[in-house]
Amino acid sequence: MTTALIGTGTLGSVIARLLAAGGETLQLSSADHESARTLAAEIGPRAVVSGENRDALQGADAVVLALRFTILQGVIDEIAERLTGKLVVVPSNPLGIDAQGNVSRLLPKEQSSGAVLAGWLPAGARSAMAFGTLSADVLKSSSRRSPELAVLFYVTDDDRAGEKVERLIRTAGYEPVKAGGLQQSSRLEVGGDLHDLVVGTAEARSLTGGA
Ligand SMILES: NC(=O)c1ccc[n+]([C@@H]2O[C@H](COP(=O)([O-])OP(=O)(O)OC[C@H]3O[C@@H](n4cnc5c(N)ncnc54)[C@H](OP(=O)(O)O)[C@@H]3O)[C@@H](O)[C@H]2O)c1
Repeated sequence: MTTALIGTGTLGSVIARLLAAGGETLQLSSADHESARTLAAEIGPRAVVSGENRDALQGADAVVLALRFTILQGVIDEIAERLTGKLVVVPSNPLGIDAQGNVSRLLPKEQSSGAVLAGWLPAGARSAMAFGTLSADVLKSSSRRSPELAVLFYVTDDDRAGEKVERLIRTAGYEPVKAGGLQQSSRLEVGGDLHDLVVGTAEARSLTGGA
């Protein structure tokens, strides 16, 4: 199947490689086309570069927005008319970095990034937050773990989105486990109890209580 991936930076390039290795066809887009072109050349025939962000969605079943949280809303507005019926996967942690290099959460403590994301998406888009629980290096090295696949947690409010994101997670070489609805996204982000956790299915299910 075909997935659009917007943002071919540190995390997006790892997600793209894992999905392509699992047989997914990719349509890549980035701010600077050069980074998308370089990545597509490295991946090979399974990846093509799109001229504009919205072009990447042409014929795609899903889109992964591997973007910094501060960029997300603008890109969603740009591609909104193409999102009806598509799965929108967001790995973004709601973090900002100041001029001194200090990292801080951009949202008030009680506000989940999933709920904010849901407010940005147009009606008809099917959203899930996934692929942002592990650092890019760990995501790469833990894929297709043997003898037992490692788990990638996701959250969604939409059962159909859940089925679709589970397929992508398996394609990337992980076992999917739902951690709850979008309101629970803070469990997945930096500082959350499920962040940076490489576990098998039994432990993951005990942590999520079979959400
Ligand atoms: N890095 C990690 O280990 C990691 C782990 C978990 C979650 N995350 C989350 O993943 C997200 C991305 O992180 P990252 O480290 O991959 O950041 P990054 O290396 O800065 O990559 C961001 C990408 O976004 C692209 N971009 C910026 N503006 C754009 C626009 N208007 N249209 C299309 N593409 C645009 C950039 O394009 P160019 O390449 O052309 O400049 C770049 O490829 C963040 O929200 C972060 O919280 C990251």
